[in-house]
Amino acid sequence: MNIDIITLFPEMFVGPFSESIVKRAIENNSVKINFHNPRDYSTSKHKKVDDYQFGGGAGMVMLVEPLALLLDELMAKTTYDAVIYMTPDGERLEQKMLNQYSSFKNMIIINGHYKGIDQRIRDHFVTHEMSIGDYVLSGGELATAVFCDAVIRLIPGAIGDGASALSDSFQDDLLAPPVYTRPAEFRGWKVPEILTSGNLKAIDDWRHDQAVEKTETRKPWMLE
Ligand code: 6GU
Repeated sequence: MNIDIITLFPEMFVGPFSESIVKRAIENNSVKINFHNPRDYSTSKHKKVDDYQFGGGAGMVMLVEPLALLLDELMAKTTYDAVIYMTPDGERLEQKMLNQYSSFKNMIIINGHYKGIDQRIRDHFVTHEMSIGDYVLSGGELATAVFCDAVIRLIPGAIGDGASALSDSFQDDLLAPPVYTRPAEFRGWKVPEILTSGNLKAIDDWRHDQAVEKTETRKPWMLE
């Protein structure tokens, strides 16, 4: 998978992409992430990337030209499966949508700042508009980091234990059951006996029952 991230603030991705599964996926070439800064495509003397909005109103809007030049350049070299614009008014991301995204070869993700980007970029380049929830972040970058983390861990080979991603909460429409590790007793708090019984069938049934029960109490709409 190849992800081209368009951002004025590439430094915001350093932490999220330099640890754990995402770091490993980059190192083993499961994913390649490239950053592109619209500022480098500004044709103005002071490398302007935003301006006041037509019609008045507070807040700056990211200029159409730097983004269009940058997108032209990327799209001349590569065919993209998705050109995503991260915006709180986009479609709210859910786990089941990630399976399709994880099969994509090439994606562009555009990060807006200030009041967002000129609508003409959305009309003429963007294929998907994505939000990660109904609250407002100061820019798309943190949402992009969330999306990249969630999608990269589904790429075959990115995660050590392929079976682990499949048993996630949501992946089979049930929340995940409780998990325990050593010691079997801590401060008198015991691990459910069944888990140390060695009876694999009984353990499987217990986990399923726990998953159903948790889903019924916490997110009953998932069972409908
Ligand atoms: Cl994708 N962008 C911004 N700025 N805020 C958000 C969001 C995206 N998703 C939720 N809040």
